[in-house]
Amino acid sequence: MNLIKSLTRGLSSSKLIVLLSIFTGATVTLTQAQTTNPIPVLQIKADQVTTKVSPMLYGLMTEEINYSYEGGLYGELIRNRAFKANPTNTVFWDTVGTGSISLDTTAPLNDALNVSLKLEAPQASKNSLAGIANGGYWGIPVKPKTTYHASFYAKAADGFFGALTVNLQSADGKTVFASAQIPSLTGDWKKYEVTLTTKKVKASKENRFTITTASPGTIWFQQVSLFPPTFANRANGNRPDIMQLLADMQPKFLRLPGGNYLEGDYIDERFDWKKTVGDVSQRPGHRSSWNYWSTDGFGLMEYLNWCEDLKMEPLLAVFAGYALKHDYIKPGPDLEPYVQDALDEIEYVTGDTSTKWGARRAKDGHPAAFPLHYVEVGNEDWFDRSGSYDGRFTQFFNAIKAKYPNLQVIATTPVKSSTPDLVDEHYYRSQEQMESQSHMYDNRPRTGPKIFVGEWATRVGSPTPNMAGALGDAAWMCCMERNSDLVLIESYAPLFVNVSDPRRGGSMQWPSDLIGYDALTSYGSPSYYAQKMFSTHHGDVVLATDSQDIPTYTWQPPAGRGRNGGGGGQSPAPRQVPALFFDATRDSQSGTIYLKVVNRLGTPQPVKIDISGISSVETKGEALVMKASSPSDTNSLKEPTKIVPVTEKAKGLGKEFTREFPPYSITILELKTK
Ligand code: AHR
Repeated sequence: MNLIKSLTRGLSSSKLIVLLSIFTGATVTLTQAQTTNPIPVLQIKADQVTTKVSPMLYGLMTEEINYSYEGGLYGELIRNRAFKANPTNTVFWDTVGTGSISLDTTAPLNDALNVSLKLEAPQASKNSLAGIANGGYWGIPVKPKTTYHASFYAKAADGFFGALTVNLQSADGKTVFASAQIPSLTGDWKKYEVTLTTKKVKASKENRFTITTASPGTIWFQQVSLFPPTFANRANGNRPDIMQLLADMQPKFLRLPGGNYLEGDYIDERFDWKKTVGDVSQRPGHRSSWNYWSTDGFGLMEYLNWCEDLKMEPLLAVFAGYALKHDYIKPGPDLEPYVQDALDEIEYVTGDTSTKWGARRAKDGHPAAFPLHYVEVGNEDWFDRSGSYDGRFTQFFNAIKAKYPNLQVIATTPVKSSTPDLVDEHYYRSQEQMESQSHMYDNRPRTGPKIFVGEWATRVGSPTPNMAGALGDAAWMCCMERNSDLVLIESYAPLFVNVSDPRRGGSMQWPSDLIGYDALTSYGSPSYYAQKMFSTHHGDVVLATDSQDIPTYTWQPPAGRGRNGGGGGQSPAPRQVPALFFDATRDSQSGTIYLKVVNRLGTPQPVKIDISGISSVETKGEALVMKASSPSDTNSLKEPTKIVPVTEKAKGLGKEFTREFPPYSITILELKTK
């Protein structure tokens, strides 16, 4: 270390970078600008407000992917609770003891749950129990002194006179954590409910839920459910730890319910909202485009309750007549029922109780209307190669505007036959591409529709993004925030991943997701913390900024196409990409300026900051800093908070000061002004 110090003493920062690059082999190439004027300068023009920060800017996007709800946010712990995940197999269910299990379509609970699990246990006895077992979504979490709510529908064949025992036990059956009895069954379907309370046990997930009997006979089951305590104690509610991570982000809205999940592979696999509301035992469920079954226990009302619990408003995406396998409905009369479905859905969300669907919402437990300002028509309709979106969008747009003139209607791709209020743009990118487009909106004409960046992510790191991802994200968020007059709303995607088996086909369908979890615990990725930093630290107006001598690096975009930022068909020319990103906002009430600076380089970056148009800046302030020693540093279940923002006291501030920004860092400086 001393050798390095003596070698580098007195060198300018540019020469230092060159030297360090030689030592570390980093692929950073300095530009001429930097070698001639090594210290970058950022100017903040505090008397020049360029725009208001959009009050809706930071939100969330969600869909059922990566076991987001079932196996994630949704509290339900039983996997395949309604036995419809596979039509020919009792997947995720096992037999306990001497019995045998099978799917039975001759004894349905109702038209929606039209199959049941049949347990045949002719040999069951006190010494030879028989029953059913479920191992949950990669485990069932058992926590100390916790009360679980178990419920199921059951009926018995003639001749069964026994009791049922409901257990929460270790996967090997050797340890029973909690137990309850159902004294008897009848020959008709009936719902049974018990509570299971654990003692002072060690938290674990290698567990199973069982229902057993010591009496011989045949029993049918349907909708076998187990809920732990939920956020705000909502019935049919959500996991508190994941909800808390989201609450900490203070999101303004939730784009729901997709994504591909809205569309389905085929029209009849769409998110058919009317089949997702009301009594959960009347919801048929559906296969989703992410290749697994959804019971729809997490339906439209659950999305809305989620919004209410986190004080965010829904941004409702309505099915627009296109499914992913190019299954679509032509604009015109054939599309009308789908348009009507969307109008009904909006009425369900916003209508008062004198309306048909507002009354239905009240019957479903929520008399008050939910706030709604944005409706999106479809999802990624640029995939619709038939060209039908223009007509489909306009048909929805006209109908929505006629009934709800105040709603902002979002198109998923530009259209010609009407003028959407906003257009949704999606960017899944590499770090380099995200950084190379970090000034993309600065010069975008302000004449067309506003922009919703409804899905975006720097996809570096799996299952959750690492610090490189967070740096790319932060560069991009500076761009969106700086251009908040144009980019009114934004949401990262995907939000969730169950990391128990993070392979495609396992618990993950899409790598680089904001929040990871297993059955027991959860964590935020560095990208999560970057989002949280941005969404909780900004003013209400954007200030004009300028810069000189911003360092750059050389990036060779990959040849070929691809969502991660490939160029065209041929090998594109190398590009100079900025390595330092920034924007400044101010809170009009307090006068505090929030200066965001992102240093993507592996070397400290001194920056001279000049603030004009203001009388004074206090010398002391605060800095929120997230940094890493390597871009591949990340968080995980084992190290959930390895990379997190830390608040530091900042000294030496003023109208003009120089501050060194650490390698691989995101900093938000809070500057108190007068
Ligand atoms: O976020 C994952 C998927 O990416 C979304 O479902 C889809 O809209 C996009 O293609």
